[in-house]
Amino acid sequence: MVDDATRPEQQHGLVVVANRLPIQRVGDQWQTSPGGLVRALLGVVRAQHGAWVGWAGDTGSDDDSRELGGMTDLPQPEEVEGIEFVPVPLTDSEFLHYYERISNDALWPLFHDAIRESHFDPESWSVYRDVNRKFADAAAEQVAPGGIAWVHDYHLMLVPAMIRERRPDIRIGFFLHIPFPPQELFMRMPWRDEVLLGLLGADLVGFQRPVGAENFVALAKRLLNADTADDTVLTDDGRRVVVGAFPVSIDVAEIEELASRPELQTKAKEIRRRLGDPDAVFLGVDRLDYTKGIDLRLASFGQLLEARGQPWADADNAPIVMIQVAVPGREGVESYVEERHRVEQLVGDINGGYASIGHPVVHYLRRSFSLADLVPLYLAADVMVVTPRRDGMNLVAKEFVAAHVDGRGILILSEFAGAAGELIDAVQVNAYDPDALVSAMNAALEMSPDEQARRMASLRDVVTAHDVHEWAESFLAAVTEVPSHA
Ligand code: G6P
Repeated sequence: MVDDATRPEQQHGLVVVANRLPIQRVGDQWQTSPGGLVRALLGVVRAQHGAWVGWAGDTGSDDDSRELGGMTDLPQPEEVEGIEFVPVPLTDSEFLHYYERISNDALWPLFHDAIRESHFDPESWSVYRDVNRKFADAAAEQVAPGGIAWVHDYHLMLVPAMIRERRPDIRIGFFLHIPFPPQELFMRMPWRDEVLLGLLGADLVGFQRPVGAENFVALAKRLLNADTADDTVLTDDGRRVVVGAFPVSIDVAEIEELASRPELQTKAKEIRRRLGDPDAVFLGVDRLDYTKGIDLRLASFGQLLEARGQPWADADNAPIVMIQVAVPGREGVESYVEERHRVEQLVGDINGGYASIGHPVVHYLRRSFSLADLVPLYLAADVMVVTPRRDGMNLVAKEFVAAHVDGRGILILSEFAGAAGELIDAVQVNAYDPDALVSAMNAALEMSPDEQARRMASLRDVVTAHDVHEWAESFLAAVTEVPSHA
């Protein structure tokens, strides 16, 4: 238990614990970060007078200390827009070992079908453990008696058990935003038992897809010899941990509101005009990450142009174009640098072959976009191409659908995105099969308006039925239903 001497003045009924605080610096102020997921979580935190424990992020200062996120001139805030924030500072060494090496160069690739080699460094793991302890200690102090700690994602998988050691009186939920791997891949991890035991400190462990929950339960049986049922695991201390799928979603109302604004619709038309009024606009929007399959999509787009004999040389415009937004990040990890080079080489290759002067065929934008800037892109596009090699959910696919209040637009979606389980009427494709991807792109170009409208109507039914607020509330309701073990 937390002793009274260290207990903060005010404790909270709900404390969210995530690697990042949901704030960003804008000029000389802190604002909450954009994104439906953050907003939904902030909504439930605010409603319960809660707090958020997390790292304030590196804002790119040259200051070699990350103790203040590199921002010695602007102290980290305790409160922004009515939400209490509890910053967990990271040193340079912690950032390297916990964030870059373990989270993003060992766990991230392993949990995404091991499509890159994971580097399992014991020294880094011990820092991961220490940093998890820092987050857990900060959280344990903040939660009111009988309250809830909601821990998020692969950076913090040891935190649930660490919080429980100090606070057996509270309920603990954990949600994994990325895929949970199949048994044979998870078995590679040197710290596999420790991770399972860390997660089993929670009362409820949530995954994006039922298959993640199944993998987790099977591993608890296999590695820990735990007594399991379909959706529960019995722990050594006699608790029944509930395991389930909670597919995350988006803020549908916000996107629909943006998409209905006349000025953003005008902006969409302006984008098409600037592209040279092409016959078809393909769109990709991703973080610049090798899991996203940007390279697969570009390679197939090049083949599509070749197969359709896209004119180049003296053409007045390009009849088929692609806009690819690639949001940079994690550039301290080698595989991300390599992916950027691969993508940029493909962009150059395709433009070199098919652009004419003043008319590129691939418009590559390597920067982040606000939602208000993305919505006109979604509206300007005829075909959204989402081709991850593996993805926990993929919210961009859902955003594209939500933005199309006009009922048009075609979604090509990889079978390996979590969203494929729900978005049945997308043009689903094996993203690893180049011919299948070219065929899907061709099918999109030839799809009748009726078929487009039918598919989009069905996709919109799915997306609008489950928004992110409902997701947050259903997860919290499920944590609350778990009997208290205090
Ligand atoms: C994924 C993870 C998130 C993470 C985001 C951005 O969606 O599930 O936890 O915040 O990527 O990655 P970054 O490394 O920049 O936080």
